[in-house]
Amino acid sequence: MADRPYTLLSCGMSIDGYLAGATEKRLLLSNDADLDRVDAVRAACDAILVGASTVRNDNPRLLVRAQARQDERVARGLRPSPMKVTVTGRAELDPCANFFATGDSEKLVYCVSARVAQARDRLGKVATVIDGGQPLHMQRMSEDLCARGVQRLMVEGGGMVHTQFLTAGLADELHLVVAPFFIGDSRARRFVSDGLFPWNPDRRATLAEVRRIDDVVLLRYALSARFRMD
Ligand SMILES: NC(=O)c1ccc[n+]([C@@H]2O[C@H](COP(=O)([O-])OP(=O)(O)OC[C@H]3O[C@@H](n4cnc5c(N)ncnc54)[C@H](OP(=O)(O)O)[C@@H]3O)[C@@H](O)[C@H]2O)c1
Repeated sequence: MADRPYTLLSCGMSIDGYLAGATEKRLLLSNDADLDRVDAVRAACDAILVGASTVRNDNPRLLVRAQARQDERVARGLRPSPMKVTVTGRAELDPCANFFATGDSEKLVYCVSARVAQARDRLGKVATVIDGGQPLHMQRMSEDLCARGVQRLMVEGGGMVHTQFLTAGLADELHLVVAPFFIGDSRARRFVSDGLFPWNPDRRATLAEVRRIDDVVLLRYALSARFRMD
């Protein structure tokens, strides 16, 4: 197998396992202390990946927030924030979205072959559009990111992307934050959808850490032999 980045999946979910509410309204699952923890994790990565639906629905900036962390990265010869990466089949992304419009880090869009021309027309001025194949597999994308110098990748959702990384056995570590409330609406997006996961009742994942962060809890799972506790 070709090299791939050390890959850390990060997400927050409700007690009943939802990533978001059923409406378009953005839902805050985290709290200030946990957002600061996530900021530190981001600052230690080379690239942050989210799916196109997350770019459209949440309009995230995906930047390192703390000035001290930005300064520390710059002192190491890096940009203040990691590279941003997204993946799309439809190529219907807004070049003015915060993903593209904020920060001076490199932005990559992996697109299925059939829509690469459309994606370059729309996003070519604000991002590097890469032909991700047809179908577009996370394994191939991971290997390409590795070839571009990404050694540590943070995947911040949503569920469709998490599902593919997990079922393809491409995740080394999972940070799962549980918020203290229920969504109670099955129209909402779950953390993962159906699939054959390498961890099941016969092969349990390793729970590496449990940390209370104010009113949420961080569950940290080691998912590969590459896992390292920092
Ligand atoms: N709680 C959290 O921590 C957290 C974190 C992130 C997101 N979220 C929530 O999760 C929701 C979105 O999750 P989601 O599961 O619906 O979507 P998602 O994983 O963010 O994105 C799915 C989209 O990514 C593209 N995509 C994914 N895999 C692909 C592949 N193999 N080939 C081509 N394109 C691919 C497709 O884009 P196109 O449609 O453009 O083809 C697909 O529709 C948002 O509402 C957000 O609020 C929550």
